[in-house]
Amino acid sequence: MAAGTIKKISKIGLGTWQFGSERWGYGEEYAQRTAHAIVRRALELGVTLFDTAEIYGFGRSERILGRALAETRDSVFVATKMFPVVPGALAVKHRAMASANRLGVPKLDLYQVHWPHPLLRDDAIMRGMRSLQRAGLVGEVGVSNYSLKRWRAAENALGSRILSNQVAYSLLDRSPERDLLPFAESHRHVVIAFSPLAQGLLAGSYHRAGRPMNPARANSPLFGQENLERTAGLVAALHEVAGAHSATPAQIALAWVIQRPAVAAIPGASSVEQLESNVAAAEIELADDEYQALHAASARFLPALASDTYPRRNLAALKHSVRCGRLVAKTVWRDYKLKHFTERYQE
Ligand SMILES: NC(=O)c1ccc[n+]([C@@H]2O[C@H](COP(=O)([O-])OP(=O)(O)OC[C@H]3O[C@@H](n4cnc5c(N)ncnc54)[C@H](OP(=O)(O)O)[C@@H]3O)[C@@H](O)[C@H]2O)c1
Repeated sequence: MAAGTIKKISKIGLGTWQFGSERWGYGEEYAQRTAHAIVRRALELGVTLFDTAEIYGFGRSERILGRALAETRDSVFVATKMFPVVPGALAVKHRAMASANRLGVPKLDLYQVHWPHPLLRDDAIMRGMRSLQRAGLVGEVGVSNYSLKRWRAAENALGSRILSNQVAYSLLDRSPERDLLPFAESHRHVVIAFSPLAQGLLAGSYHRAGRPMNPARANSPLFGQENLERTAGLVAALHEVAGAHSATPAQIALAWVIQRPAVAAIPGASSVEQLESNVAAAEIELADDEYQALHAASARFLPALASDTYPRRNLAALKHSVRCGRLVAKTVWRDYKLKHFTERYQE
């Protein structure tokens, strides 16, 4: 996509939260072999955008991704995220260096703030980001789960472009259309769409009698009985459009997301086949009437979830921050164990 970056960003990237994460429950075979095969196949198919975060699998996702990319690390666009527990410039530097070490890269192509700090502004973080850019450890700066107002304020604090905002965007969550997409489209910025398949719900594999059992999804309201019933009509509309393209509902859901020019999507994959299918979705062109039919179906069946996913200055945002703070602490502890007890402690 045309975003003026030195390295190319593919419209379909690969999300790697699943790698080494116990919450997704894909197991050791997945972490040790399948994840590697998924990355290698993605590279063969021309994927250049790879997204991870320090807290995914407590650093394990970054390690798995770095090992799988191997010598191709320099030619792809590697994006990772830091969680602003201590939002000082020095802390940002330490977190960035730890991520670069786990990934085995000399430079983070895109370094994103995972969630806005619920109490503090972004000035100190952006001071840290600016020095990292000057030192050459960070290429582009990004944010995630930011409102437009906060994205722009962070950009002012940085004093230059914050390339991207990574937010949930799919037929089940179209809130970025309100202001993030128009802003990105008119200012040569990028919206990185996470959960573009609504964590697999839009693939049509889950229903009342067959809900996902892994912790990442089992207790999510997205996969609750009521939501699965409400979204059945949308999944049926995806099936109908898919039929006309000899495609799958998941491919149509992805083609719909990336139709917007400023959007790159980063679907996760539990198998090489899913990855191949997701990459092939970039070739599908939806006709106007199909696009409109999906819009209408999505508007009719929007799930009964809170519509505003941006954390506000409230208890929920604070709780989320504390929980993720614990994940960062576990990530640091795991690094320490790997460094000092490598003989007894292997991943
Ligand atoms: N910034 C943030 O706060 C944030 C939050 C969430 C995610 N993310 C990023 O976004 C990435 C993607 O989001 P996500 O993993 O939440 O959701 P997603 O990409 O919408 O869903 C991924 C899941 O959908 C299923 N799937 C994928 N391709 C499929 C296909 N072709 N056919 C059928 N099922 C398919 C797989 O699960 P099953 O096969 O098990 O059904 C897969 O694990 C993450 O890996 C992460 O990098 C960022």
